[in-house]
Amino acid sequence: GSYLFCALTKCVECSSEASELADIEWDNLGFGLLPTDYMYMMKCSQGGNFSKGELQRFGNIELNPSAGVLNYGQGLFEGLKAYRKEDGNILLFRPEENALRMRQGAERMCMPAPTVDQFVEAVKETVLANKRWVPPPGKGSLYIRPLLMGSGAVLGLAPAPEYTFLIYVSPVGNYFKEGVAPINLIVEHELHRATPGGTGGVKTIGNYAAVLKAQSAAKAKGYSDVLYLDCVHKKYLEEVSSCNIFVVKGNVISTPAIKGTILPGITRKSIIDVARSQGIQVEERFVPVDELLDADEVFCTGTAVVVSPVGSITYKGKRVSYGVDGFGAVAQQLYSVLTRLQMGLIDDKMNWTVEL
Ligand code: COI
Repeated sequence: GSYLFCALTKCVECSSEASELADIEWDNLGFGLLPTDYMYMMKCSQGGNFSKGELQRFGNIELNPSAGVLNYGQGLFEGLKAYRKEDGNILLFRPEENALRMRQGAERMCMPAPTVDQFVEAVKETVLANKRWVPPPGKGSLYIRPLLMGSGAVLGLAPAPEYTFLIYVSPVGNYFKEGVAPINLIVEHELHRATPGGTGGVKTIGNYAAVLKAQSAAKAKGYSDVLYLDCVHKKYLEEVSSCNIFVVKGNVISTPAIKGTILPGITRKSIIDVARSQGIQVEERFVPVDELLDADEVFCTGTAVVVSPVGSITYKGKRVSYGVDGFGAVAQQLYSVLTRLQMGLIDDKMNWTVEL
């Protein structure tokens, strides 16, 4: 049969199991879109329920120019990953957590959302249909991007009359161009990412457009990304544009508490649990920017970035470096446990992975 048909789990033409890999260069994947075979689409009218989702060939979608998402930013996204194990089976990491976060975000953005079961089933179907794009073990992962958007037409400001849930996937490697080498951050002290009572705590698309200006300026100066401070006191750490932050001092790691202005990261939450299971004390609290000065290590967490060591942070022209070339000892240990769990290399005592 054709290559595309064989991408299905059971090939409809030759009914063989698809075990082949897409014919691409698997070494040195970065974090860019590689078009894959299928995407998942499911629609719902305002006040109704999502139903009859289906796979379609990956490609452009049609939207009314007056769609809620295009005009008023009524949209959410999620991000999760699938890893290929040595035995060829595929592991998802905590997909029901993404489903729950999308439901919380949808409530804030006045959108209906798929149920947890619908979300997880749709993720599984999409990954299996694109199985040949899941990188070989050790070469990266399949990044899964669910979207929820107001796709119906509105002109006056109001929730859209129709919603679309969509999932597409792309094989990815390291997020930062530094690879696994430490990143260099700059603290932004004028622009803010989120406000109390705003939408900083949900994964709405506008949160990410709002950080582009500071991020572009930082990148132009050679920094990897921007670290945001709270907008009230302009003093407490919040998050980086694309990930959460942790500060290590002795045997204690501290991270900004979830209070509505930072994204409740699933990697953040998992790292906290892994750290505690390793006997490391974790504090979720207000973390003043001054604590960066005498930290032993700083690292970031996120689905896309996984665990990324921070090599230096610049704040108001002063640069603090964290004395190691690569990972600090604590970040290395946490990274190692988390990724081995995600790739099925150690026993999943937490029951976090879902095998396909
Ligand atoms: C993720 O880590 O999955 C995210 O959604 C961050 C995004 C900016 C790539």
